[in-house]
Amino acid sequence: MGCNMALPLLLSMAVLASQRHTLTAAAPAAAAGAFGSWVTDNQKDFAINQALYAKKAVGNTGDTIDERLAKAEANKTTYIVDPKGGGDYTNITAAIADIPEGNTGRVILDLKPGVYREKVFLNLSKPYVTFKADPLNPAIIAWNDTAATPGKDGKPVGTVGSTTCAIESDYFVAYGVVFKNDAPLAKPGAKGGQAVALRVFGTKAAFYNCTIDGGQDTLYDHKGLHYFKDCIIRGSVDFIFGFGRSFYEGCDIISIVKEVAVLTAQQRTKTIEGAIESGFSFKNCSIRGEGGGQIFLGRAWGDSSRVVYAYTEMSKEVVPVGWDGWNIKQPESSGIYYGEFKCSGPGSDARKRIGWALDLTESQAKPFIGTHYVFGDSWIRPPPTGSSPPSSKKPSSSAAASPADSPAESPSSSFEASSPESSEAPASSKASSPAKSSESYSKDKKKKEL
Ligand SMILES: *[C@@H]1O[C@H](CO)[C@@H](O)[C@H](O)[C@H]1NC(C)=O
Ligand SMILES: *[C@@H]1O[C@H](CO)[C@@H](O)[C@H](O)[C@H]1NC(C)=O
Ligand SMILES: *[C@@H]1O[C@H](CO)[C@@H](O)[C@H](O)[C@H]1NC(C)=O
Ligand SMILES: *[C@@H]1O[C@H](CO)[C@@H](O)[C@H](O)[C@H]1NC(C)=O
Ligand SMILES: *[C@@H]1O[C@H](CO)[C@@H](O)[C@H](O)[C@H]1NC(C)=O
Ligand SMILES: *[C@@H]1O[C@H](CO)[C@@H](O)[C@H](O)[C@H]1NC(C)=O
Repeated sequence: MGCNMALPLLLSMAVLASQRHTLTAAAPAAAAGAFGSWVTDNQKDFAINQALYAKKAVGNTGDTIDERLAKAEANKTTYIVDPKGGGDYTNITAAIADIPEGNTGRVILDLKPGVYREKVFLNLSKPYVTFKADPLNPAIIAWNDTAATPGKDGKPVGTVGSTTCAIESDYFVAYGVVFKNDAPLAKPGAKGGQAVALRVFGTKAAFYNCTIDGGQDTLYDHKGLHYFKDCIIRGSVDFIFGFGRSFYEGCDIISIVKEVAVLTAQQRTKTIEGAIESGFSFKNCSIRGEGGGQIFLGRAWGDSSRVVYAYTEMSKEVVPVGWDGWNIKQPESSGIYYGEFKCSGPGSDARKRIGWALDLTESQAKPFIGTHYVFGDSWIRPPPTGSSPPSSKKPSSSAAASPADSPAESPSSSFEASSPESSEAPASSKASSPAKSSESYSKDKKKKEL
């Protein structure tokens, strides 16, 4: 069909393996130990997840409530950010700088409408942050770096560095925000064209009525439990990628290219710790193209890449085979899990799908199609609609809640650094160029370590 996207090399895997000292041939004993603990960790995770799921199944969700979060929600602070000058800050970076390290209460940045032309980085030391805007009159956070943009040291910033808005802390919420990377759209096959609009690395993050807008590699659903509700996601190649465990509900997913778009490059793999729990689940979404190009539902960035679409409307641009194994040599047996359940529209014909994709039964689909997939009972809250509480920075409001007066709490274990071990971003194009991100993750890792 003229667009076989399989890449010849297991580049990302090779680099990954070489970076993991535990897997080098020189240290077989360490490898066995690391593998052993990896297995143990996974068994532990699995046991916890099983237990939660079992409780959910019998309707007992009472003791899964996240107490830390409940405490934070009972202690809210509001900062008003207005690019036109009417608030406490004129930009988000300045407002974030004022959040005390290790805050235990929720901090709501009330974002007034307008364009925020800045790169935003929310450090993991600042959890419970909400970006609250008005979906009908949104706050637009925009920047235009690509992986090839030179950084301060003159070297390309890489995929991670291209991000307009990076969220590394836990319990983040956004409502009515447009996250945008408006770099010129890379040509298919161009190197360094990755241009991330939003990267989510913290866990228990929820996005409501947001737009994530870019081209190649738009949404780095990097790691953690994430919920995207009623969002619009626009992009071209691999535009939702990473090893997040995420539930997308009621989202519009739009390809903007004339050539070939790939909706997901999910990175579930056995070789990154914890990544085996990951996967993207889409429910009640719609998939369509604005540029007229074909759309693949996903290609496997990881050996066990996992993506499920349920009750999703698929336009005619979705290719009949649906999925691509990319650089996985035996996709039918490597652990890839690509499934569909009760989708509709001209692009949804399951009979023409590639042989190793699944037409799920109800019981197979069930674990994926609800917020239970991300253990949402314990942390997903309704979107922060309604009018904003007054600024907590004004002298008239409760002085106790003023962050300037509060001593910083020592950070709790909920946001301990846990750097990803991935070193690569998905490839940059439909073409056969390996087009990996030139940066090494270790560089970014340094930035992340506490
Ligand atoms: C954000 O606001 C602060 C304080 O007003 C200012 O110093 C800084 O230059 C602004 N940053 C950007 C990116 O506009
Ligand atoms: C409320 O949150 C602030 C900011 O995180 C924190 O300094 C303060 O100790 C919290 N108050 C209570 C009662 O937890
Ligand atoms: C990025 O945006 C800035 C400011 O808006 C502009 O000066 C610059 O030319 C843009 N860069 C590219 C590559 O479009
Ligand atoms: C959020 O999105 C949903 C679904 O598109 C829509 O029904 C709702 O009106 C939106 N909320 C606002 C405030 O626009
Ligand atoms: C899908 O979303 C629409 C509109 O938000 C809603 O009316 C409908 O019930 C949803 N369907 C399912 C299967 O969740
Ligand atoms: C994140 O916060 C920690 C703790 O304050 C700090 O050491 C680190 O430099 C911060 N990282 C960045 C990239 O700002």
